[in-house]
Amino acid sequence: MKKLYIQDLRNKIGQAVELTAWVHRKRTHGSLLFLVLRDSTGIVQASIKKDQCGEEPFNNASAVTLESVVTVKGVVVEDRRAPAGIEVRVSNFNSLSPSQEFPLQEDTGLEVLLDYRHLHLRSIRLTNIMKARHYLLEYLREFFNDDRFWEVYPPILTVAGCEGGSTLFGLDYYGDTVYLSQSAQLYLEVLILSLEKVYAFTPSFRAEKSRTPKHVTEYWHLEQEAAYYDNEDNMKFQENMVSYVCQRMADQQGALVKELGRDPGYLKNVSPPFYRLTYDKALEKLADAGIEKEWGDDLGTEDEYALTEGLDKPLFVWRWPRTAKPFYMKLDPQNDEYVLNDDLLAPEGHSELIGGSQRIHDYDELVQRMEEQDMDPAAYEWYIDLRKYGSVPHSGFGLGTERLLKWMLNLEHIRDVIPFPRTPRRYYP
Ligand code: 4AD
Ligand code: MG
Repeated sequence: MKKLYIQDLRNKIGQAVELTAWVHRKRTHGSLLFLVLRDSTGIVQASIKKDQCGEEPFNNASAVTLESVVTVKGVVVEDRRAPAGIEVRVSNFNSLSPSQEFPLQEDTGLEVLLDYRHLHLRSIRLTNIMKARHYLLEYLREFFNDDRFWEVYPPILTVAGCEGGSTLFGLDYYGDTVYLSQSAQLYLEVLILSLEKVYAFTPSFRAEKSRTPKHVTEYWHLEQEAAYYDNEDNMKFQENMVSYVCQRMADQQGALVKELGRDPGYLKNVSPPFYRLTYDKALEKLADAGIEKEWGDDLGTEDEYALTEGLDKPLFVWRWPRTAKPFYMKLDPQNDEYVLNDDLLAPEGHSELIGGSQRIHDYDELVQRMEEQDMDPAAYEWYIDLRKYGSVPHSGFGLGTERLLKWMLNLEHIRDVIPFPRTPRRYYP
């Protein structure tokens, strides 16, 4: 069965075709019926006249319900009034798979749309977002592969977290407890000692308490780890990577981006160097804006918004207090109250895209930091072990791919880019 796709009709003008698709819209003008047909590649108008296709096919077409699957035969003609500039003049019509009355309409509310996500995913908007997501990952992989990074496959069931215990999902594993991965980082740190430059694209899980437009409990995490990269190399890599995918998306998928409401020119403009503020300077800037923070505080949504308002590309907030960050980050040799790290914030309050750092590669420093944070070294024995057998300086980062796409397309909520979003309140369908 070889299917003809709607996007290929452009090359069939003047020819007779047979097209199978879903009925997306329907309207009548007396004895003239218009169906807008949809498949994975787009939509096209089909016009059906009683005197051209005969009474029975015309009556069947008139009675067809939205979302039915139909086959039409007809000739492709150019028509400037039709949505895509072409239409199919139908000579025969068949209903292949009728649809019951579709529960979703133009004005259906958000909660119902989420309950019917399995049907809402047919909308053109969500379909386009799924396509944009596909392209984003294609371009990200291109960037890593061109730089000779190895893609690796860390576990999802893990023995310990690395971003603090409070957001770990535990589960029973034959009487023991294991955790859904928060981050593949610790495992990537193993793999760089053979492969040197690696990346992994995996689901990460966070038992989030925050209910915000940027938090979900399951997301797709793209993580990089590289031997002999210091913090500066790491930040340069991040800005080059983000710029590369923004420009590729603008160049290759401009029409898609535009249809989703983002000017491709905005993405085209995203290029290195990104803006940079040390954590201390960020606190000063916030104080100037009337937001007082304690030294050592994390940045919240409002702070991120205040720091990135009006920016045309992302902002690094780097060199954070050691007390604000996890145990594995390398202390700054100039002043060990700070760590060599960065958070990359998207403009317009689209939130943190990336968290990265140079890692501690020295055995004693690592054990000391773990003790300082009251961690149990037993669960991390294998990780600490790495520092005994030919350890090297290294850095890495984790990118929230949904957040990156949310910003690139200027979408309101992270769930917009996820086919089946998982939040504290929702795990159906
Ligand atoms: O900043 P995070 O917690 O860093 C880590 O997990 C590091 N171990 C990564 C590494 O160095 N390999 O998470 C990294 C990114 C965040 O910047 C954010 O984009 C995304 O993961 N993220 C979330 N995205 C959606 N929903 C959530 N609940 C997220 N939590 C983190
Ligand atoms: Mg972070």
